[in-house]
Amino acid sequence: MSERTIRIGMLGCGTVGSAVVRMLAEHGDDIAVRTEVRLAVTRVAVRDVARERDVPLPRDAFTTDAASIVADPDVDLVLELLGGLDPAKDLILASFASGKPVVTANKEVLSIAGKELFDAADAVSRDIRFEAAVAGGIPLISPLKESLAGERVRRMLGIVNGTTNYVLTQMSEHGWTFEDALTEAQQLGFAEADPTADIDGFDAAAKCAILASIAFNTRVVASDVYREGIARITPQDIADAARLGYVVKLLAIAELEDGEVSARVHPAMIPDAHPLASVRDANNAVFIEGAKVGQLMFYGPGAGGDATATSVVGDLVHVARNLAFGGRAIGCTCVLDRPIRPMDATTGQYYLNLHVEDRPGVLAEIAEAFAHNGVSIERVWQEGFAEEATLVFITHRAQEGAFQKTVAELRDRSSVRAVASLLRVEGEE
Ligand SMILES: NC(=O)c1ccc[n+]([C@@H]2O[C@H](COP(=O)([O-])OP(=O)(O)OC[C@H]3O[C@@H](n4cnc5c(N)ncnc54)[C@H](OP(=O)(O)O)[C@@H]3O)[C@@H](O)[C@H]2O)c1
Repeated sequence: MSERTIRIGMLGCGTVGSAVVRMLAEHGDDIAVRTEVRLAVTRVAVRDVARERDVPLPRDAFTTDAASIVADPDVDLVLELLGGLDPAKDLILASFASGKPVVTANKEVLSIAGKELFDAADAVSRDIRFEAAVAGGIPLISPLKESLAGERVRRMLGIVNGTTNYVLTQMSEHGWTFEDALTEAQQLGFAEADPTADIDGFDAAAKCAILASIAFNTRVVASDVYREGIARITPQDIADAARLGYVVKLLAIAELEDGEVSARVHPAMIPDAHPLASVRDANNAVFIEGAKVGQLMFYGPGAGGDATATSVVGDLVHVARNLAFGGRAIGCTCVLDRPIRPMDATTGQYYLNLHVEDRPGVLAEIAEAFAHNGVSIERVWQEGFAEEATLVFITHRAQEGAFQKTVAELRDRSSVRAVASLLRVEGEE
């Protein structure tokens, strides 16, 4: 077959967009030889056309009018790299309305308005691909949708936010406070000036929703994902975890149990022998358990222009080949309507550190609170023997609601001076 040129209208030319243009300039010939499609970025929408950009494109390729690119009959494929919900969502919908397939890296729009976008793509039989939306440079969406199409995924545990992983790594390795580690991350460019989306788990929750939707064939949106960030993690939590052979990570967890899906993002202690424990700094990794394949782990850079551009260009090749030679990628796979399990009904293991009065009978009193809530204790030990003692517990798997009720009751006991630390434990079994 002879080489075909596909004209790309690119919306956004920031960190990722400019890296895509540079990659196509550098590798475009190789790509054309390998895939029989030549990817040509012909038009680009930005906010500021006067800004100097390190991209080999003529000035007149740029416009502030993104809608005109989407409507342009000389554009074959729309690459959305603006980020955020608006105007990205309307522009993607307009692309489908004009019969153009879309590649996007936008986790926000997918995790909020995924159904609308997929329905619009289906209505015109066009592709929508979004490999870069979760874990930037790591191939994850294609493996899940395509390579694992015959598998039943049971569980996913992921480190899908580089900023929080960087902060927790620095806290673990240097004993720093959360605030000091975050300041350093901001100075080195690993955290935004406003780090809320990362630190409070919003970014990871959006990615968790996308992964859970694909893995379990049911629509999970960002607001279905239980979310806790890392701002409350103390050096003491990290040191306690290390002493017990665990590391603290912000995990995105999606599970299918008894036909129900649970999706959650929270910090957790994982054993230091677990493959996710060695994922340091801003790297990402997703650990997948399937019924037949067993355990898989995908690891690599979750962000950065060049790394993310590799995922984007891979998607462009797929979509361009379908345009050139016919065919269509797997569309929306959310064909089931599985209930979302509320956080209180999920099960997990817990680590609890209590400061208590050091007098006879206190341990029995506390153990009774666990027992009558149906939470069984796997390990307990006491440290410190003065006015105050520290009691440390690790539970067996228990229901979240029952464990939280136990903790609420313990906080009300006069013998409990403080709940010094409370962390979930994952990855044990
Ligand atoms: N950065 C990463 O490492 C990474 C990794 C994975 C996924 N992603 C995703 O990739 C997408 C792009 O991220 P990025 O880091 O490249 O963002 P960015 O650096 O902030 O770039 C955004 C681009 O969009 C343009 N833009 C924004 N609003 C616009 C509007 N209304 N009309 C026209 N142009 C507009 C901006 O124009 P100006 O240049 O004129 O301001 C800029 O070129 C996001 O969805 C992000 O979540 C990024």
